Amino acid sequence: SAAEKGGYETFMEKEIHDQPQAVQDTLLGRMDAAGTLVLDELRIDPEELKAVNKIIVLACGTSAYAGTVAKYAIEHWCRIPVEVELSHEFRYRDPIIDPNTLVVSISQSGETMDTLMAVRYAKEQGARTVSICNTNGSTIPRESDAVLYTHAGPEIAVASTKAFLAQITAAYLLGLYLAQLNKKLFSGQIKDILADLHAIPGKIQEILDDKEQVKELARSMADTSSVLFLGRNVGYPVAMEGALKLKELAYIHAEGFAAGELKHGPIALIDDGQAVFVVMPSPMDRHSLHAKVVSNIQEVRARGARTFVVAERGDQAVRSHAEVVIEVPETQPMLMPLLTTVPLQIFALELASAKGYDVDQPRNLAKSVTVE
Ligand code: G6P
Repeated sequence: SAAEKGGYETFMEKEIHDQPQAVQDTLLGRMDAAGTLVLDELRIDPEELKAVNKIIVLACGTSAYAGTVAKYAIEHWCRIPVEVELSHEFRYRDPIIDPNTLVVSISQSGETMDTLMAVRYAKEQGARTVSICNTNGSTIPRESDAVLYTHAGPEIAVASTKAFLAQITAAYLLGLYLAQLNKKLFSGQIKDILADLHAIPGKIQEILDDKEQVKELARSMADTSSVLFLGRNVGYPVAMEGALKLKELAYIHAEGFAAGELKHGPIALIDDGQAVFVVMPSPMDRHSLHAKVVSNIQEVRARGARTFVVAERGDQAVRSHAEVVIEVPETQPMLMPLLTTVPLQIFALELASAKGYDVDQPRNLAKSVTVE
């Protein structure tokens, strides 16, 4: 009904607009007055957590892209090696797991059969298991040693939006918690990152309040048959997610690439008029990736591509290189996915709507896949 959709036309549109709240609620109550992270639900002995020397993230679909963001953040903050693997691949090789391996599963529904089976397998092999999940009391958290709930609220649209941002938020909290436990970051650093995280909901709201440019762009592209997405570092999983949203909703061929990989193959796809979204790294990125991605923009433009660049408001350097710049507010480089994802969601929603598709129930897809 219209009331359930909060006045929006579709659940997906509502859920995109729920995102400031989803991130805020996922942060809520997880810090004490002194600014120390308290993850009470994480009922694994802190000594056991300190002994963790490898993390494996297991998930499918959009949740797996949240897992890739988690890898960048946890390795950077905690110096613990993190692997991300699709649940259905994980189980059918011989993964190396021991009691010092922490398996972190990510699932909106908590019922995805592939992920459930992978978690069971990891437990049998002696791993500690943590579930990042959006559904209270669902199977995966019940079968895991501990759970860190995302508080995005029920997600109805098949294609995931607010659960994705909440998963990334929860993964950051887990990473910061492990860094706090292992003293890999100073408490002041953790406080700074948490303060920046708390500022994210307001910044998402700014993007939502300013979405007309992206909507127009999407409507103008209703006849497009292929869209590429480029990103680096934490922008890479964002590019993958942008492509997945477009496949799921608009049935358009879309692919996400690591921008550095362009020259190793995908650049051959570029010809006149090819649409390319570029998720810009922060100009403050410590690896100077910004200049490298600007070069990528020049390379694809020289071959005729149309470039739509998602960049920070303060990023003046990219302006002269892009056909269209889609601005997002500034934040620290590691937290950018919580902002850069949003215009890509709006783009996919609007393009699919322009084509007349049912965005809440895309063809051939199910919200929760409970078969292998
Ligand atoms: C299905 C949905 C996707 C979702 C994936 C994982 O394929 O259509 O949107 O990302 O499952 O779901 P989960 O509930 O485990 O996050």
